Amino acid sequence: MLSCCRWLQPLVQASLLLCSALLNHGQFCPTPCLCPDPHTVDCSGQGLGSLPDFIPLNVRRLLLSGNFIDQIPADFLVLYSDLVCLDLRNNSLSAIEPGTFSTSSKLVFLDLGWNNLTEIPAGTFLESGSLIKLRLDSNPYLSSISEDAFLGLTSLRELELESNALSSMKVASLSQLSSLKVLRLEDNPWVCNCNFANLYAWLMENLDRLPRGVDGMQCSVPLDGRRVNLSQFSEDSFRGCQLTLTLTDYLIIIFSGISVSVAAIMTSFFLASTVHCFQRWSKANKTDEEEGED
Ligand SMILES: *[C@@H]1O[C@H](CO)[C@@H](O)[C@H](O)[C@H]1NC(C)=O
Ligand SMILES: *[C@@H]1O[C@H](CO)[C@@H](O)[C@H](O)[C@H]1NC(C)=O
Ligand SMILES: *[C@@H]1O[C@H](CO)[C@@H](O)[C@H](O)[C@H]1NC(C)=O
Repeated sequence: MLSCCRWLQPLVQASLLLCSALLNHGQFCPTPCLCPDPHTVDCSGQGLGSLPDFIPLNVRRLLLSGNFIDQIPADFLVLYSDLVCLDLRNNSLSAIEPGTFSTSSKLVFLDLGWNNLTEIPAGTFLESGSLIKLRLDSNPYLSSISEDAFLGLTSLRELELESNALSSMKVASLSQLSSLKVLRLEDNPWVCNCNFANLYAWLMENLDRLPRGVDGMQCSVPLDGRRVNLSQFSEDSFRGCQLTLTLTDYLIIIFSGISVSVAAIMTSFFLASTVHCFQRWSKANKTDEEEGED
């Protein structure tokens, strides 16, 4: 056994040397990509419909922007644990499989902008504690971000969520990001209801993290759909929402209040007229009886 290993050793060393030599000469670069340095694989704008095969295992920068990639298998990143930068901007991804980023503990930069994502589920980046910049902008159907979507992103400094289809967002998903310095939320169809009041209050407290302030942020009024610039609001605008109820809740409360009152009034009318009728009836009966006695 031992002698066998000893015999293998030079062979292994030789093949490792050969590998790195080949790699340095770009021979192991997956077609049609470029490998400008031993740790970079650049497949940008190559018309790829899926991830390229034979990506070197020690890749640190994987550039795949401007293709038509519509899927990342959940176990894809298991092999590439040295990956620091993953650029998937401008592709056709519609979902991120659960667990895709569970082995990407060295990932610092991730670009998923200009894709077709619809939601960011809870725990998507749970193991991505090194991530510093996350771009999730310009996904025209991205309307749902779980309260725990960004759980685990303890190093994240920049988060881009502009130009999506977000109408609401839980403050809890943002307040977990303890290192956040830059946040972009503009150009989303926010709805200015009482849910939004919490986000508005958070934004006012964190204006220094918004590079453009609230410029470019608008929300639409639930009743008539009118869009209002956020800069026209003040904390007072949401004063009616301090119980953190939504407008629907208010409508339900008001409506059920009215229904209860109407029901109560109708019941008392009914009771009153029944009593009245009964009184008249018994009075009439009495008079009849008295007349009969006479
Ligand atoms: C997205 O990629 C396509 C295909 O490479 C390219 O034609 C287009 O200009 C890119 N769009 C953006 C906004 O980069
Ligand atoms: C993006 O998603 C929408 C609906 O979710 C779908 O209609 C459209 O075809 C998708 N586009 C691409 C490029 O995958
Ligand atoms: C709202 O903001 C846009 C720029 O973001 C500006 O062009 C427009 O005049 C503003 N509207 C109002 C009513 O202030």
